[in-house]
Amino acid sequence: MFSSRIPADLSPNPLTAAVRAARACGRALVDLTESNPTRAGFDYPPDLLAPLGDARGLCYAPSPLGMAEARRAVSADYARQGIRAPAEHIALTASTSDGYSLLFKLLADAGDEVLVPRPSYPLFDHLTRLDLVVTREYDLDLDGSWAIDFASVERALTPRTRAVLVVSPNNPTGSFVAPHELERLAALCAPRGIAIIADEVFADYELEPGAAGRAGRVTTRTDVLSFALGGLSKSVGLPQVKLGWMAVGGPDRLVAEALERLELVCDTYLAVSTPAQGAVAGLLERGASVRAQIAARVGANYRTLQAMTAGESSCRPLQSAGGWYAVLRVPSLEPEEDLALRLLTDGVLAHPGYFFDFPRESYLVVSLLPPEALFADGVSRVLRHFDGTVGVT
Ligand SMILES: Cc1ncc(COP(=O)(O)O)c(C=O)c1O
Repeated sequence: MFSSRIPADLSPNPLTAAVRAARACGRALVDLTESNPTRAGFDYPPDLLAPLGDARGLCYAPSPLGMAEARRAVSADYARQGIRAPAEHIALTASTSDGYSLLFKLLADAGDEVLVPRPSYPLFDHLTRLDLVVTREYDLDLDGSWAIDFASVERALTPRTRAVLVVSPNNPTGSFVAPHELERLAALCAPRGIAIIADEVFADYELEPGAAGRAGRVTTRTDVLSFALGGLSKSVGLPQVKLGWMAVGGPDRLVAEALERLELVCDTYLAVSTPAQGAVAGLLERGASVRAQIAARVGANYRTLQAMTAGESSCRPLQSAGGWYAVLRVPSLEPEEDLALRLLTDGVLAHPGYFFDFPRESYLVVSLLPPEALFADGVSRVLRHFDGTVGVT
């Protein structure tokens, strides 16, 4: 009766089941997987959402790619980052996930392929599958810092490839795509009629000073059709407002053709709420204080992680340039899943690396969002597991 787009087996994996069981019996866990900024103790101004109550939201006058003033506000936010993205090249979405779905409909037929980085964001499997698109992986190589393995990109390309996805900075490796990498990707994609989709939701968060400014930004290229994805969920810590966007870049003719078609797809769903669109300018402006808090928090936690693992520890954080996550290389004493389950009994929850498709064990992925003291407590529990005792900073 049901579509095979939805996996037949919906039972939770052993770690999810164990977390549910621990919570059901009231066990306190230090959650180093927390990625919801609204649960991480930030000081949200109480009237932050006031722009959503503007009376103009009482009028429904749908515009498929989004209200002009909202698109202008997003364009101005790109200008804040030093990026030129004209308002008429911006389309509003209900979230980044919604943006991916729109783009798969725009670019791919059933069975067409998109290239996704490995390691990366686990939601790609579901996002592609639900739109009948097939993923093929290309590798990010760790050689001191992360870089695209172009041989793996070339191996993954087929006549059915419709898009190459990059996540910059990537979740969880924290690596930004470099301008020279975009140059090489564009040279591979443009002649084959393949688009580049760049997920830039964490672009505001650098862990290494200057990393965001040095990163490649795909929509600045004029030689390849590209889509940059962003949204309020990360840029101002408001995932519940459900407003994202895409900026379209590339050769003028292709940009115009893409926007024309996107307009039809967006018109079919009209998924973006009018009050949210009317509020974008205000939320981007008022949300700057939340962004600053998140940036300070992830930076402080990353430095704590480095300090706590300096010296004798058998665990090492991988170098991370940006985003909300860090990767900890840990001794391979047991399968990652067993490790994550065992850590749970020590009262700490961390993601095993295989969730993110790390090529081999053993890695743990930790969120840098939790309040500083909680984060340090969680990390010390992890380190205690391997090192016995731990010097806390
Ligand atoms: C790389 C990446 N893209 C997109 C999202 C989701 O963004 P949204 O809430 O706008 O769908 C996430 C959420 O964690 C993410 O890690």
